[in-house]
Amino acid sequence: MENDKILILDDEQIVIEAITKHLSRRNYEIYSGKDGKEGLVLYHEVNPILIILDLRMPVMDGVEFLRKINLSPADSCSVIVLTGHGSDEEMERCFELGISAFLRKPFNIYELLGIVSHSIALKKVELDLKAELIQRAQMEDELQRYRNHLEELVEKRTVELQNTNDMLQKEIVERTNAEKHATRSLRDKEVLLREIHHRVKNNLQIVSSLLDLQTKYIKDPSTLDMFKDSQNRLKTMALLHEKLYQSDNMAEIDFAKYLTNLLDHLYRSYCIDTSCILMSTDIDKATIGLDTAVPCGLIVNELVSNSLKHAFKGQQGGRLSVSLHKLDDGQFKLTVSDTGVGLSDGIDLKNSKTLGLRLVNALVIEQLEGTLEFDTNNGTSFWIVFRELKYNTRGTKDDR
Ligand SMILES: Nc1ncnc2c1ncn2[C@@H]1O[C@H](COP(=O)(O)OP(=O)(O)O)[C@@H](O)[C@H]1O
Ligand SMILES: [Mg+2]
Repeated sequence: MENDKILILDDEQIVIEAITKHLSRRNYEIYSGKDGKEGLVLYHEVNPILIILDLRMPVMDGVEFLRKINLSPADSCSVIVLTGHGSDEEMERCFELGISAFLRKPFNIYELLGIVSHSIALKKVELDLKAELIQRAQMEDELQRYRNHLEELVEKRTVELQNTNDMLQKEIVERTNAEKHATRSLRDKEVLLREIHHRVKNNLQIVSSLLDLQTKYIKDPSTLDMFKDSQNRLKTMALLHEKLYQSDNMAEIDFAKYLTNLLDHLYRSYCIDTSCILMSTDIDKATIGLDTAVPCGLIVNELVSNSLKHAFKGQQGGRLSVSLHKLDDGQFKLTVSDTGVGLSDGIDLKNSKTLGLRLVNALVIEQLEGTLEFDTNNGTSFWIVFRELKYNTRGTKDDR
């Protein structure tokens, strides 16, 4: 650490030497001048922490020197006046000019040493305090800048968040509107579709009624039979459209319910007594789309009609069984069997001269792309294995 610098200004060399001798021993760095003018030069050059100042000096006296250096409490230097002649007025003026102690000659060197070390210690404390104050002011400045910056950031972020929020709100409103619109449009389409199925069913029934009216003019039993078959085919399809507009999603039909209704209708249509020809059904719960249900319904209509019309001729009665099972591989197995007289030998479904069995064969092979087998021992049994048809939106068959 650097030694503290002391500047002695006195026109008496002997005073300078006496003080220098004592101060040097205490590790101070001593500079000296014989008047105020020299003192000013040294003061600016050396920047001492303490000045020991005589008042009466040639060229420039102590008071003039004090005026020139214009001491203020914030300065890094303090001044002790050491004079042989100072009046009380001069002492007062010197204190006004910022000195810290006033000693008269002749002086006690130890008293001076005490005042010197005390003044230097006090100045150092002052300087430390000043440095600390400056540092604190700087820190506060920096803190304020940081706070301002932070406030700016918060403000900017708030604006950004507000904008994002506004955008999101707008998007939510847009989406909600779009959703409402889509729901409304879907509901409208559902209503429309239900209406279409209803009308198709009604139209099929009208055609059926027209056929019914026409039968009044037909006398030939086999032609009448053909009309009845046609009516039942129409009813089979009308029933499907009825089931569709009653269903929840209008795409799939509860096939078990549909088959039960169809069988009831056929029994009524052929005026069959259910205690005479017993009916047993074993139908798995399954929903099937219209594309599969139409050929399936028509097949059941043909096979059950045949059993009711032909199987029990000349017999007391018997049993008709219809079953539908979903197989493990996802296919369906439909069985229609009766305990009647059985088919005549050598029947060829493909080349049958009659429409019913030919229709069954065509529907199974071409529409359902399934397999058809039958057995004529102990009555007649037909069984058909098929997979539900999957249609794409344009109504063409998907690759399966
Ligand atoms: N379950 C059955 N039991 C006895 N004979 C049947 C049965 N199914 C069909 N047949 C016979 O096969 C013939 C052809 O049937 P089909 O092609 O449906 O014509 P349709 O029923 O109009 O006579 C019937 O006329 C009938 O003699
Ligand atoms: Mg038939």
